[in-house]
Amino acid sequence: MESERLLLRPFSLDDAEALYQLAKDEEVGINAGWEKHTSVEMSKEVIENIFMKSEQYAIILKEDSKIIGAVGLVPDPKRENPDVKMLGYWIGKAYWRNGYATEASNIVLEDAFENKGYERISVYHYAYNEGSKAVIEKLGFVYEGYQHQSSKRYDGVVLDDVLYSMSKEDYQKRKEAERK
Ligand SMILES: CC(C)(COP(=O)(O)OP(=O)(O)OC[C@H]1O[C@@H](n2cnc3c(N)ncnc32)[C@H](O)[C@@H]1OP(=O)(O)O)[C@@H](O)C(=O)NCCC(=O)NCCS
Repeated sequence: MESERLLLRPFSLDDAEALYQLAKDEEVGINAGWEKHTSVEMSKEVIENIFMKSEQYAIILKEDSKIIGAVGLVPDPKRENPDVKMLGYWIGKAYWRNGYATEASNIVLEDAFENKGYERISVYHYAYNEGSKAVIEKLGFVYEGYQHQSSKRYDGVVLDDVLYSMSKEDYQKRKEAERK
């Protein structure tokens, strides 16, 4: 799957070194709820046990074929309906603020609604995460509410979540509005 600047493809074990270089940063995983990677071996385990077992994609910059982050859909832990999936994304720090999280998420949304037939996509951010909030608003998600003490992060810190979702109809309306 691709857009103007990005290519999305499944992860393979050969991506472990590149993943490690991005995911060892203190500021990336902690804001998405996962612990920074401490070795290439850890990155390999994440690829094998998490990325390769779900709808997760490596985000590749077309201009130099480098991995810059990951995006994908997972079962939503806050909803029992299997036709709803939860969007997640992160971008390596060196690549922030170039529109990549928005561009990559839009590829996944198009696939979710136009090919996979999902009914609704949810997305959440920790209450303090202004960057993710901005991405979510730019994507056109609809605010659903604020959930207190919603998540316990790997380090034991309890955080509030802000909840959003987009139905297939919301997505189609957004597409129509863009065409006008
Ligand atoms: C949040 C994150 C994914 C944003 O990625 P990105 O590629 O920099 O986002 P984009 O460039 O697509 O930005 C989309 C909008 O958000 C804004 N934005 C991005 N980071 C921001 C920040 N830290 N504070 C405020 N606004 C921010 C951009 O300016 C842009 O708005 P604009 O077009 O009106 O200028 C990235 O900072 C990241 O990976 N953070 C760590 C992991 C994380 O938080 N994941 C999300 C978990 S819910």
